Amino acid sequence: MKKVSVSKRAANTPASAIRKLVPLADAAKKRGIKVYHVNIGQPDLPTPDPILSAIRHFKESTIEYAPSTGVYETMEAWKKFYSDKGIKFDASDILVTSGGSEGLIFAFLTVADPGDELIVFEPFYTSYAIIAAMGNIKLKAVRTKVEDGFHLPPKAAIEKAITSRTKGIVVCNPNNPTGTLYTDAEVKMIAELALKHNLFIISDETYQELVFDGKKVLPFASFPKLANQLVVTDSVSKRFNSCGVRIGCVVSKNKEVMQSILRFAQGRLSVATVEQMALIPMLLNHKPYVAKIRKLYESRRDTVVRELKRIPGVTAVAPEGAFYIIPKLPIKDSDDFASYLLSDFSDRKETVMVAPATGFYATPGLGSNEIRIAYVLEEKKLERAIELLGLAIKKYNR
Ligand SMILES: Cc1ncc(COP(=O)(O)O)c(C=O)c1O
Repeated sequence: MKKVSVSKRAANTPASAIRKLVPLADAAKKRGIKVYHVNIGQPDLPTPDPILSAIRHFKESTIEYAPSTGVYETMEAWKKFYSDKGIKFDASDILVTSGGSEGLIFAFLTVADPGDELIVFEPFYTSYAIIAAMGNIKLKAVRTKVEDGFHLPPKAAIEKAITSRTKGIVVCNPNNPTGTLYTDAEVKMIAELALKHNLFIISDETYQELVFDGKKVLPFASFPKLANQLVVTDSVSKRFNSCGVRIGCVVSKNKEVMQSILRFAQGRLSVATVEQMALIPMLLNHKPYVAKIRKLYESRRDTVVRELKRIPGVTAVAPEGAFYIIPKLPIKDSDDFASYLLSDFSDRKETVMVAPATGFYATPGLGSNEIRIAYVLEEKKLERAIELLGLAIKKYNR
C-alpha cells in the first residue's frame, strides 16, 4: 500500500539553527546546571507599560477579526512611525503582519517564483533559509568575513552572484546575526545594483534604530528611484521588547506588490486584533523608548567585546548595531563546541548556551570556528557568560 509522505519542499526545509540545541539545554537544567542564554534574540527587558496596559484593559465585548490589511489605526500608527524617521509612506503602502516573519514570507513569495534566486549576505538570519525553502526559492549567498567586521565585499563580487533568475537582494541593516551596520556607501552600492539589474530590495528593518556610537542607518526608502523596487519588512519585537505580541508590517510603494501581498494576507484572514491595537501608542511615539534601549545595548556591546578580547585566540570586531556579535574562536567545530558547552562543561554548576554560526551560512563548512552571541542579558550576567565561554574553550582544547 502506498504510504503518505511529506512534500520534497517540506522534507528539505532546514531546522532553525538557533533552536536545535534546546533539548541539550533542557537536559543540563535537569542536572541542576544554570544556563546563561545568549543563543537567541529574546531580550530580557520588560515590555513597555502602554502595551501591557492596553492588552489588560481591552474594552470590546467581542474580539473581532481585524481587516486583512490591519486595523486602520495601526496602519496609521506605522505611517506615523515612519514619518517620525523622515520617511513618507501612505497607510495604503502598509500591511500589518504577524511579526516581521510573516512580512518576510509575504515578501519572498511575492517577488520570487520557484527556482528564482535571492541574494543574501552570509552569515544571514536563519529564517531566510526556511522561508526560501517554503517557496522553492534559491538563496545565493555572498560571503562576508569576521576580519572585515562582516562588511560587504566589493560591488563586482556581489554582481558576480547575479544571474538571469535573480529577483532581489535581501538586506538586514543593522544585521542579525553579525551586528554590522552597513555604511552609507554600502547601502548606495546595493541601491545602484538593484537599479542597474532591475532587482527588488527586501529590506529587513527589524533592528533599524538599534545603532550605536551616534551612527544611523541610511534607509533604502531615501532613494526615490528605488520606490517601485523596495519592499520593507518590519517588526515591533525587538525595538519594543514585545516579541510575543507578533506584530510587524510589510511596506511597499509598488501597488502590484501590495495587491499581491493583500491576497496572501486574505488567505490568513487577519492579525491578532488586541495586540495590533496595543502597539499603537508605542508606534505613535517611538523615539524616547528606543533611545533608552539603544544606550543600554551599546553599553552591553562594550562589555561583551571587552570580555571577548580577553580570551586568547578570539577575534571580535565591535558590532555597530542590533544586539549580536559573531566572534571567531580558536575551535574547529562550533556545532560540537556548542553541544559540549551544554553536555560536558560546567563551572560552579553554570554554563552558557550559544548559537553555532554554521547555521547562519548557506555554504557548508563556513562558520565552523564562529558562534553567535546575543547580548540580551544584564551586564553582570554577560560578563559571567563570556567568562564561562573562555573557561570552556580552554578545557575543550586541552
Ligand atoms: C533579522 C530578523 N528579521 C526578522 C525577525 C522576525 O521577527 P518577528 O517575527 O518576531 O517580528 C527577526 C527575529 O529575530 C530577525 O532577527
